[in-house]
Amino acid sequence: MHRRTFLASLAGLAIAGPTAAKMKHDMSGHDMGAMSGHGNRNMPQAGGKPILPEGLPLRDLPRLENQSDVAGTFKAKLTAGQSTVRFADGLDTPVLAYNGANPVIEAREGDRIEIAFRNEIPNEPTTVHWHGMPVPADQDGNPADPVASDRERVYAFDLPEGSSASYWFHPHPHGLTAKQVYRGLAGIFLVKPKEDPIPAEYGDTVLMFTDLRLAADGTMPDSSMMDLMNGRVGDYVLVNGQKNPVMTMARGEKRRLRLFNATNARFLRLKFENASMTVIGTDGGLIEVPVAAEELLLTPAERVELIVSFDQPGAAKLITLDYERGWMGPGKPDEAAMTLLTANVSTETAPRVSPLPAKLRSIAPLGEPTITRRFVLTESMGGMNHGNMAHNGMSMSSDMGMKFLINGASFDMERVDEVSKVGQVELWEIANQADMDHPFHVHGTQFQVVEHEKDGMVTKPAYRAWKDTVNVTAGETVRFLLRQDLPGLRMYHCHILEHEELGMMGVLDVRA
Ligand code: C2O
Ligand code: CU
Ligand code: CU
Repeated sequence: MHRRTFLASLAGLAIAGPTAAKMKHDMSGHDMGAMSGHGNRNMPQAGGKPILPEGLPLRDLPRLENQSDVAGTFKAKLTAGQSTVRFADGLDTPVLAYNGANPVIEAREGDRIEIAFRNEIPNEPTTVHWHGMPVPADQDGNPADPVASDRERVYAFDLPEGSSASYWFHPHPHGLTAKQVYRGLAGIFLVKPKEDPIPAEYGDTVLMFTDLRLAADGTMPDSSMMDLMNGRVGDYVLVNGQKNPVMTMARGEKRRLRLFNATNARFLRLKFENASMTVIGTDGGLIEVPVAAEELLLTPAERVELIVSFDQPGAAKLITLDYERGWMGPGKPDEAAMTLLTANVSTETAPRVSPLPAKLRSIAPLGEPTITRRFVLTESMGGMNHGNMAHNGMSMSSDMGMKFLINGASFDMERVDEVSKVGQVELWEIANQADMDHPFHVHGTQFQVVEHEKDGMVTKPAYRAWKDTVNVTAGETVRFLLRQDLPGLRMYHCHILEHEELGMMGVLDVRA
């Protein structure tokens, strides 16, 4: 797509709207095109937005309890359905939730997992997709296996040796994924190793980021055209459902933190002020040796495991920095300088803890690829490239023919895009020829990024790591090695969920 043409058309659109002038001003306006007219009911608000309490103690997400008394088996019931959450004082927000919450499942390598799932979402199919996990294709909740409203199914799989990592799960029904996720459906899946090299004294804290938008009456507005284009970004980035919660720490304390980007479309460039971060793990588990980091970028669906040392008394804040991810049109959210979490570090010194081991594990290189596949990411605006919107008779409430494509094609569940073989090492080359960053995700396995190329410059990652999602910046090509060990249909897609829904997804058939 030609960005200039596109932006010009957008500008035309905004001016044509009856409330254009007003929109230009109160342009926290991700609501363009979805001016849904929520009434203003004397609730605590800042410029029409409800105010969320801050500074409360960080909550743990609830654990999903293991109902099995057989060693090595994890059994539980999981129900997706409606619930309400009081994010702001006096306002009840209707949400979707798993067992009324965003639960954490914790199991071990080698365990057998059996989740009896029930869909109680009125009139909508759903699935449970085990993001990043090596589960059989027919247990992986992909869009081809919907669970209808009021129906049940069991998801059963074994956790192989070496699979310990920070995974998550979320719905993946065709055409409804983005909406069900922003309405609240997501959970964490921790797979623990038989023996953990990380000292237990560091604890193990889940920090799940979600992105909430509330209308003045506490409800979640529908997505607008701008949301579809850029991915839906909310007004508040929450940690475990809380705005800027607080942890209390003694000076010198070290904590193991697992960060999960469970937002639809929020790029989080993160930094811990007055504390030092060491990366110990990525999407697919521990890396080989700890790596100190000043800051890090966590794009939608990515995870990172950190050891944070709180060595200075006072407030250590987890903040966001500015990041340019290729926002289209007006309404670019203010992404910098949000405080996501505050650690209050006392002057009292923590007892000495064991040091972090120098070596965490080994990751064998995947080896030489026998085949290379190339995936080109592009955006297209339907008729807009060649003509004037008004003549095409499109309306602001439609998606205006926006398409996000892989190799020129829009997702089609009936079409197999790539045929592969179990056990085959492949080099995947993702070329982003679009104007926005696209975090690229593959189902069913973990891959190893080999290099990034942009403007003729090739850079290698600083360390070997297992990933299932990698950000491909506008104009960049990312190459990674991948091997699928289980047969069946697997999706690959942009994890800005609105882009996945508007076509940026393909089907890989892995044959035995
Ligand atoms: Cu998080 Cu298709 O996945
Ligand atoms: Cu996935
Ligand atoms: Cu995308």
